[in-house]
Amino acid sequence: MEKKSGYVHGYTNRENERLVDQANALVELLHGDTVYPPGSVILEAGCGVGAQTITLAATSPRTQFFSVDISRDLLALARERVKAAHSGNVRFLQADIFDLPFGDETFDHVFVCFVLEHLPRPGEALKHLKRVLKTGGSITVIEGDHGSVYFHPESHFARKAIQCLIDLQAAAGGNSLIGRQLYPLLCESGFSNARVSPRMVYVDSSRPELVEGFTKNTFTAMVEGVQGRALAEGMIDPAAWERGVADLYRTAEPDGTFCYTFFKAVATKGISGKHHV
Ligand SMILES: C[S@@+](CC[C@H](N)C(=O)[O-])C[C@H]1O[C@@H](n2cnc3c(N)ncnc32)[C@H](O)[C@@H]1O
Repeated sequence: MEKKSGYVHGYTNRENERLVDQANALVELLHGDTVYPPGSVILEAGCGVGAQTITLAATSPRTQFFSVDISRDLLALARERVKAAHSGNVRFLQADIFDLPFGDETFDHVFVCFVLEHLPRPGEALKHLKRVLKTGGSITVIEGDHGSVYFHPESHFARKAIQCLIDLQAAAGGNSLIGRQLYPLLCESGFSNARVSPRMVYVDSSRPELVEGFTKNTFTAMVEGVQGRALAEGMIDPAAWERGVADLYRTAEPDGTFCYTFFKAVATKGISGKHHV
């Protein structure tokens, strides 16, 4: 039986395509500075459909990735994707971050992207990841923060629709505002030398690939994905919802702009495993 978490975005084909669009649009911004040394063994936790795996495996070809996810169905898609890209340095495994089937100090590096935001106990998840990381090894965590959104033209309805997504994710035990918390979470989980860099996506019509790949097919698609639940739970009335989504698409018009900030954190596992600020 398929194991699932309380994942607010669901496991539909549209959501899988959205994650791939997001990864394609953001490759340089999010991954440009992630290259692992040859010979490294890396755990990618919560790999989903392999949207990030493809980039990681290609930019660090002489390494070995172990990419795990709780969903067997998504792993099957990830396997196909990596096979099509002819990357021979990835092994996939079904596993729960909270019950990892690896010994202590197994990996040189750990990579986790857009996963902590869905977990009710992200700090505990980081401690489980720290257990399997070698002393001196690094963890890279990338998360978004839906509170970082601003756009033109401004729209009260668009903000209400976004708030539905934030509230639904919180009700499912997640936190879509987690980007701003990466530093304290890593410190509290016992990692050392945490450094967080905000990565802002700015979109206007001079960047048509981001208008399509980010404003429309990543962010607005993600908001649209919770329409059924937002309406069913009476969080917003149908007319306000429609207007909100239309106003988000409006920001993708030639005179519109859209901004969002991701947070990328890198920290190490210190010798004592204690918190060094
Ligand atoms: C938003 S997706 C991100 C996928 C991928 N990292 C990416 O950036 O495209 C979150 C993923 O975390 C997985 N996940 C959620 N809880 C998990 C857990 N406890 N253990 C392992 N994977 C988990 C989900 O199945 C899903 O594939």
